Amino acid sequence: MRNTGPITVRKLHPLFGAEVSGIDITTPLSAREFGPIRAAFEEHSVLLFRDQPMDDDKQIQFSENFGPLETTGASNPAAGTKFQRQSNLDIMTGEPIPPDDMRMIYQKANYFFHSDSSFKRVPSLCSILTARICPPEGGNTEFLCMRAAWDALPPALQATIHPLVAEHALAHSRDRVQKGILSAKALSELPPVKQRLFRDNPINGRRALYIGAHAGHIVDWPEPIGKAILWELAQRAEQPEFMLSHAWREGDVIVWDNRAVLHRATHYDAVKHKRFMQRTTIGGDELTVPQ
Ligand code: OGA
Ligand code: MN
Repeated sequence: MRNTGPITVRKLHPLFGAEVSGIDITTPLSAREFGPIRAAFEEHSVLLFRDQPMDDDKQIQFSENFGPLETTGASNPAAGTKFQRQSNLDIMTGEPIPPDDMRMIYQKANYFFHSDSSFKRVPSLCSILTARICPPEGGNTEFLCMRAAWDALPPALQATIHPLVAEHALAHSRDRVQKGILSAKALSELPPVKQRLFRDNPINGRRALYIGAHAGHIVDWPEPIGKAILWELAQRAEQPEFMLSHAWREGDVIVWDNRAVLHRATHYDAVKHKRFMQRTTIGGDELTVPQ
């Protein structure tokens, strides 16, 4: 398809999310073509593109429009690549991995709402997930509008959390699945970092609550009290009316703003069905708080 006509942006949910059509994103985009996509991303936080058959090279090419890509850490099976695989398929055989295999257990941390790479000093801007093989049912990805979550907090609670800093670490989310699941190597590679409890969009000023499964406790607070306030904030954010659930079709591409939404994976029958999604992650360009 030649990208000649205007793009169409159709809202997916009253609060956030939009489907963008009328453009082929598997080919190189000019600045003029990408401009409206970037603007829609800043506005809607989650962008869905359908019928965009991606391979790894095309995905990297499209992703780089948003900025430099993160590289996967040394302790990850995909070390040194620009991809994070979300799949039940063995990378060598292409067959489902047994459910009790550590590779499957490890992925269960994705079932908790999180923001990708919030455990990095400079947290990510956005993630791009492409559907290569989809199960016939289940395996939706769910998104939470954290701008709405922030706006719904009582002003006194907003004032309480405004100066606070949370400690984020990959270990905090992995410990929810199984304590001690991370290797000593992975732990030493990713020391805990500090993040503010909100992120502001630099273009439109919209503020979003910034928490998620990698957040463990509040810096300088007794740990149980810090955990309790993070728990309360998560409960307040996880409202059905703030949620968008996406049922994937092969060829779907979703870009989500890690500053403005949390997301999670959901269950599918990983013994019977195959699922292979490929993620690229675009790095951010600023700390949320001095480290
Ligand atoms: C991710 C992720 C959810 C899913 O790719 O970062 O959390 O549904 N994926 O696979
Ligand atoms: Mn994720």
